[in-house]
Amino acid sequence: MRVTGGPWHDWAMRWNRALVTGASSGIGRAIAQQLAVDGTRLVIVARDRERLEALASEVDVDCEVLVADLSDRDALANVEARLRDESPIDLVVNNAGFGQTGPLHELNAERETGVIEVNVIALHRLSQVAAEVMVQRGGGGGILNVSSVAAFAPGPNSATYAATKAFVSSLSEALHAELIEHHVHVTALCPGFTRTEFQDRADFDASKVPDRLWQSADDVAAAGLRGIGQNRAVVVPGGMNKVGAGLLNALPGPARRFLVPRVLS
Ligand SMILES: NC(=O)c1ccc[n+]([C@@H]2O[C@H](COP(=O)([O-])OP(=O)(O)OC[C@H]3O[C@@H](n4cnc5c(N)ncnc54)[C@H](OP(=O)(O)O)[C@@H]3O)[C@@H](O)[C@H]2O)c1
Repeated sequence: MRVTGGPWHDWAMRWNRALVTGASSGIGRAIAQQLAVDGTRLVIVARDRERLEALASEVDVDCEVLVADLSDRDALANVEARLRDESPIDLVVNNAGFGQTGPLHELNAERETGVIEVNVIALHRLSQVAAEVMVQRGGGGGILNVSSVAAFAPGPNSATYAATKAFVSSLSEALHAELIEHHVHVTALCPGFTRTEFQDRADFDASKVPDRLWQSADDVAAAGLRGIGQNRAVVVPGGMNKVGAGLLNALPGPARRFLVPRVLS
């Protein structure tokens, strides 16, 4: 980690080498591209080799392609091994994730388990290994975990997905506190509707979502990278999302349970 022009928590943090999961598409791809513009070397992780190799050939920095299905424990162990190897990674971006839409009892059970494997198990393992390695190497570094505004309220018709994101936010906030003394930044990035492949993959009909609620993957990525540079525990990008998340946080449980299904339907 190089610090340019400020104390360790300054926004102008620059990273030496970042590992980004889910870099083949959407927010992860935008994060990898923005890091590369800053001169950060990359290790990019996802299942789609062709897309990863296309990204690696586009960027002007050293970029390793690591093909891994993060729902597969052996593949996940390979990514953990890359975090431990002698060529250090000072920023880990746990971005890979997906969901399914519909009532739990109607959803494909194997795919629901996959949601938990990728959004929770893989993110947890990679956060733990990153923290361990960064502390062992004398401190400093960053862990940027991509959560969601869905973390702020149980979400009918995306129950598993919302629960996984509540896990991501809770874990990240706790790690943020644990790792402050080791100068390791930890941030939960909580996007709202972002134009990526996410909605198609989740079979979510996004046609009724008003334009003003959408953000671009580039804007979300920039907000996340600013947030981890500043060591903010939680980043909710976009004014509408901030208002929504603030409201959900402030509402008592019964009011939230009354409102959320009505707003989401
Ligand atoms: N878009 C939104 O509205 C929104 C809102 C809130 C939060 N988020 C969160 O943002 C993160 C990024 O999503 P996105 O919006 O950029 O969606 P996206 O365009 O669908 O990208 C998802 C990324 O995750 C990777 N991925 C999925 N399953 C994987 C697996 N089993 N192993 C390895 N990589 C896997 C995909 O790569 P491969 O297919 O190549 O494996 C892809 O690179 C997710 O955690 C999502 O929950 C998105």
